Amino acid sequence: MITKIEQLLAEVENLHADNAEALEALRIKYLSKKGAINELMADFRNVPAEQKKEVGMKLNQLKTKAQDRINELKEAFANQDTGSNELDLTRTAYPIGVGTRHPLSIVKNEIVDIFARLGFSLAEGPEVEDDWHVFSSMNFAEDHPARDMQDTFFIEAHPDIILRTHTSSVQSRVMEVSQPPIRIICPGRVYRNEAISYRAHCFFHQVEALYVDKNVSFTDLKQVLLLFAKEMFGNDTKIRLRPSYFPFTEPSAEMDISCNICGGKGCAFCKHTGWVEILGCGMVDPNVLEANGIDSKIYSGYALGMGIERITNLKYQVKDLRMFSENDVRFLKEFEAAN
Ligand code: DAH
Repeated sequence: MITKIEQLLAEVENLHADNAEALEALRIKYLSKKGAINELMADFRNVPAEQKKEVGMKLNQLKTKAQDRINELKEAFANQDTGSNELDLTRTAYPIGVGTRHPLSIVKNEIVDIFARLGFSLAEGPEVEDDWHVFSSMNFAEDHPARDMQDTFFIEAHPDIILRTHTSSVQSRVMEVSQPPIRIICPGRVYRNEAISYRAHCFFHQVEALYVDKNVSFTDLKQVLLLFAKEMFGNDTKIRLRPSYFPFTEPSAEMDISCNICGGKGCAFCKHTGWVEILGCGMVDPNVLEANGIDSKIYSGYALGMGIERITNLKYQVKDLRMFSENDVRFLKEFEAAN
């Protein structure tokens, strides 16, 4: 009996199977009820008492070895590729999860495209700026409240270096190195020292437009504004200009559009006025032209600036500004169709 067990032990150590069926055949041969090992177990009662201990141990050893080896082979099959002859070429491909463009990028591209069609070219400037480009060159008085620490992020070691609070700084960046005609559209991120809530954030996005040439008038500005509003919000959109104040434009205005949610009838979004404000604009102040090396006696210009979040809210009714920076995939996926 011992010889028989040892022979089987040597066999199971070298078990080999090419496929799952062959493995199952081996399992039946050694481990099933009528398999070789069980047959030996049945014979165990005929073993003389003084040999029972040794034979019993060997038998158990054989059984575990056989089980281990068969499990080992089984695992090897499970981890194996199914092999090219089993490849199902008719099966649909695994879906590839492509990302979607961020809603702010979608709207930014749309704004830039509209102005590009009107002959404006793209310009960009740094987010970490100096006081000159953000404030002084844009005609902000020394004691203007926007320069206050409460509104502006300063770099501690360099009080002159700040995070830009508006994209108007790009106007200065472009004017200081070029002469009219200048016709630029400048999208970018801006920073303000605001407490974060559903309606304010410490960073947001703006688009600035600047046009400087001979004989540029307020009429040109109005026409471009009307065209922009219709392209962005639909042909029925009306615009309204209200006098306002900005240090870098004179005269200045704020533009409202007829509320695109209720069509101007009045709703909660437009606070029942039928109008919503979307941008600031005006004729470039001659001081700004001069500070940036452009002769204000020869040239004039207009400028406008808008918040991309605001325009996106109007187009897609996103009620909480924080959604734009949380990157919740469920929120971002909602803009798949607009991509
Ligand atoms: N810079 C202004 C802001 O951040 C927006 C603005 C208003 C830009 C009027 C302009 C403009 O170019 O003419 O609120």
